[in-house]
Amino acid sequence: MTFLIALLFLGLAVGASANCKCDTMKWATCDGTPCECTLLVDDGVKQKLNCNTLIPKCYLMKGESYRASKGQDTRIIGGKPVESAFLDNDGIYDPDCENNGTFKARQCNNTDVCWCVNSAGVRRTDKGDKTLKCEKLVETYWLRLQLTHEPVEGGIDEKLLKPALAAAIKKRYNFDTKLVDEVQYDPDANLILVDVKKEIGERQTDLTTMAYYMEKDVKVLPLFKDQEKFEPVVGTKTLKLNKILVYYVDEENPTFTMKALTGGIIAVIVVVVLAVIAGLLVVFFARRREQQKYSKAQPRELETM
Ligand SMILES: *[C@@H]1O[C@H](CO)[C@@H](O)[C@H](O)[C@H]1NC(C)=O
Ligand SMILES: *[C@@H]1O[C@H](CO)[C@@H](O)[C@H](O)[C@H]1NC(C)=O
Repeated sequence: MTFLIALLFLGLAVGASANCKCDTMKWATCDGTPCECTLLVDDGVKQKLNCNTLIPKCYLMKGESYRASKGQDTRIIGGKPVESAFLDNDGIYDPDCENNGTFKARQCNNTDVCWCVNSAGVRRTDKGDKTLKCEKLVETYWLRLQLTHEPVEGGIDEKLLKPALAAAIKKRYNFDTKLVDEVQYDPDANLILVDVKKEIGERQTDLTTMAYYMEKDVKVLPLFKDQEKFEPVVGTKTLKLNKILVYYVDEENPTFTMKALTGGIIAVIVVVVLAVIAGLLVVFFARRREQQKYSKAQPRELETM
């Protein structure tokens, strides 16, 4: 009898621990009754998580920065040649978060160099020293997600794209479909632009956390515990997304100076120069081919003569 009861308890304990998990964060550790989940963000520092919803981006970045410092797997940094002017310069850092998971307006990455960020934690000012003041956290109210998908046999029905994407985003990130504002499509480039926008002044929706989860879904591996892929279904066709670029639009314009933008401008110049060289090469080879045709044609003409 006691054996049976012990077995029952064991069963309950196993059952409970099986339910004690964090669906929205695969790196979380969960245990106890009631179940509590945490994310390691520094040596011996655990951030408590609410796993009923997406984990705020600031906590995710903190955890990721810590994992990167320990050489554990995280996202691949700097794999792309050119990214949007906002994102590419800094990438990941160890952010300071408010108690509710939002970013502190000023970030210093544990150094003496500081800068101001938007609600996505992305730098929107020049870097300065510790005396730098950031009056408030400026909200990002509009995100443009530039998605590329693998070719789909027979193409996709453009009319179905917006509702399909809105539904997929709602299902995966529990996100109001109304926020998907506009969708543009370039079938030749397999390129989808999704504008996700909220009212200026709205403080309920966290666009940037959703975008961060999506970035991970497309670029590396899902942050969700079940490693299911994010593959929107348009009509009967499944979209396999392979690239994502996120543009941030804040309620107030960023205050970069030219100096801070140099990197981006250099990248643009490089692209333009490469395009020009490619153009010249095309012209050069076309000319050569024409010349070859001409010189080949010549003897034949002579023969007939
Ligand atoms: C933050 O600090 C880490 C480690 O010192 C460094 O590798 C990283 O480049 C820094 N990031 C930024 C944005 O300054
Ligand atoms: C989060 O906390 C900060 C600082 O206390 C506050 O300014 C901000 O309004 C809070 N945001 C939300 C969404 O609760």
